Amino acid sequence: MKVPAAARNRARELHAQLHEHNYRYYVLDEPLISDAEYDDLLRELQDLEETYPPLTTPDSPTQRVGAEPVKAFGEVRHALRMLSLDNAFSDDELADFDRRVQAALGRAQVDYAAEPKLDGLAVSLLYESGVLVRAATRGDGSTGEDVTQNVRTIASVPLKLEGSGVPDSLEVRGEVYLSHAGFHELNRQAGAQGQKLFVNPRNAAAGSLRQLDPAITARRPLEMYCYGVGKVTGGKLPGTHSGVMAQLAGWRLRVYDDIRVVHGYSGCRAYYRHYEKIRGDLPFEIDGVVFKVDRLDLQDELGHVARAPRWAIARKFPAQECETRVLGIDVQVGRTGALTPVARLEPVFVGGVTVTNATLHNQDEIDRKDVRVGDTVIVRRAGDVIPEVVRVVPKRGRRRGPAYNILATHPVCPVCGSHVHKAADEAVVRCSGGLFCAAQRKQAIKHFASRRAMDIEGLGDKLVEQLVDRELVNDVGDLYTLSVDAVAGLERMAEKSAANLVAAIEASRQTTLERFIHALGMREVGESTAQILAREFGDLAPLMAADVESLQAIHDIGPVVAQYIVDFFAEAHNRGVIDKLLGSGIRWPRTGRPAGSKLAGKTFVLTGTLSVPRNELKARLQALGAKVTGSVSKNTDYVVAGDNPGSKYDRAVELGIEILDEASCMALLEKS
Ligand code: IVH
Repeated sequence: MKVPAAARNRARELHAQLHEHNYRYYVLDEPLISDAEYDDLLRELQDLEETYPPLTTPDSPTQRVGAEPVKAFGEVRHALRMLSLDNAFSDDELADFDRRVQAALGRAQVDYAAEPKLDGLAVSLLYESGVLVRAATRGDGSTGEDVTQNVRTIASVPLKLEGSGVPDSLEVRGEVYLSHAGFHELNRQAGAQGQKLFVNPRNAAAGSLRQLDPAITARRPLEMYCYGVGKVTGGKLPGTHSGVMAQLAGWRLRVYDDIRVVHGYSGCRAYYRHYEKIRGDLPFEIDGVVFKVDRLDLQDELGHVARAPRWAIARKFPAQECETRVLGIDVQVGRTGALTPVARLEPVFVGGVTVTNATLHNQDEIDRKDVRVGDTVIVRRAGDVIPEVVRVVPKRGRRRGPAYNILATHPVCPVCGSHVHKAADEAVVRCSGGLFCAAQRKQAIKHFASRRAMDIEGLGDKLVEQLVDRELVNDVGDLYTLSVDAVAGLERMAEKSAANLVAAIEASRQTTLERFIHALGMREVGESTAQILAREFGDLAPLMAADVESLQAIHDIGPVVAQYIVDFFAEAHNRGVIDKLLGSGIRWPRTGRPAGSKLAGKTFVLTGTLSVPRNELKARLQALGAKVTGSVSKNTDYVVAGDNPGSKYDRAVELGIEILDEASCMALLEKS
């Protein structure tokens, strides 16, 4: 299509104006025009682009409103691993960090760039020739999800960088988060529509960014601050972290405005103290402050260990505690039938969220703390973990209620009425109802659908409750026979979201063996055990046929877990559900064990500090059929020793086992 020059020029003008106003509003917080005027300009551009579609470029300000929904996110492999941070929970630990840095660098004083630690989620932005072309979540650090369309909707993320010297390719990293105000507004809306509320800004931000429909993300008031760079090519950046941050701001990326260069431990401590005092006044949640060696050449010299750089530390705020009263003690039934006592509390605001429940763990814990209904208690909340009751605050002269006993209050399961029992060697009380118990079935289905299991997008708690209550789904096998019509009949389910859900269920059929094993929800078989089982057995049938002895022969699988696994597959009902699942087309790539590899069947032990992340090396070895175990024995074939190897090295020498340094291990990998 031919676009008239006048239209092209006007579009260019509108781009520039809208980018400028957007930047002033969202990054600088200094708007020049009213919202209505901004909307007029945007509408004019939208009209132009509708008339002349070639004008719609990826950096157009119209591209923020949310593109078409996707079925699933693509994968993005990070060019440089996205690392995590080590934590210091006290001044002493912070001082230790500074001492380690000084010692490693052989310097008496080191300058650090200090900045707040935002509580959101890490995102990587890729700018090619200054244009935002891709955005990805951190994922496991090596591979994340492609959330480009969603990130485009975040107004403080520039679609295009301005200014001179922008590198050809620039990867910027930072934190996507929700302000307190944004979070409360979101929850107000959710409440008004009868939806489930988000527990904290971080979960809300993560949930908002991981929407398959970018139009939903566009309505969430997400923000982003940049805190670093990844891979950079075709351009030069300043030699200090603080300098790089200033440069990013110069290109219009949003960078926190109180990043300070501080001297040594005492400078760090002062910055921390300051933020400890003002954290409550900030418009967003922070869970500590971060210190990074400012000079980049020194950062390189320090390098990193497995998951975190040696040149940075997060000084975390202590867990927050608060006093409140126990209004009652409820009981929740979990996937394995465990009855968990939960204190119902007079609502208190702790660490950025309103807490109304706190776990009491089990009867032993209740006894130890002697928590009773009516007591005044201290509740603690640290980071993302479930709030817990720490202790009772004694109140003199107040008559207390009776001691709480879960077996007395709940001789039968509160959900299905089956009797409950307590094994002599266990602290927990369990419902004996098994699959008869709706609570256990619901939990099993929620687990099956969860992100780290079958990853069925959109199958949340509320939906599972309804599906089970209406008897549309009795076990996980029924999920794959759900029709759009049946789902659309549920509360708050429009035709479109029903279709999306059925599509997501459909998409989950293609999975991996380890996800499937994890999803089955066998007792004590979490993600890593599932991974081990998948690797050892290569397929489901041999695992189902395994006996206790052969399971126990596997490193890391003890007698208890081995018995749980055998019991699970012995249960006719479970085999029936598995048949149903396989019959509905669930499949995974058959890997089996690579036969030809020279490393197949060889046992490795890794020790000391390696320059590649240990998990990565482990995975590479395993991919070639090798086993990687935790301790050296006469069955070990090779010990890979990095820097500062420990006792495993000595043991290998003692047993005469071949020791490889990192380079020779890599060479062996290459050859195989
Ligand atoms: S730097 C190489 N700086 O904290 C170090 N991270 O616990 C990589 N975070 O995954 C991170 N504020 O999501 C850095 N100013 C800041 C941060 C920050 C928040 C998050 C980030 C990271 C996590 C590590």
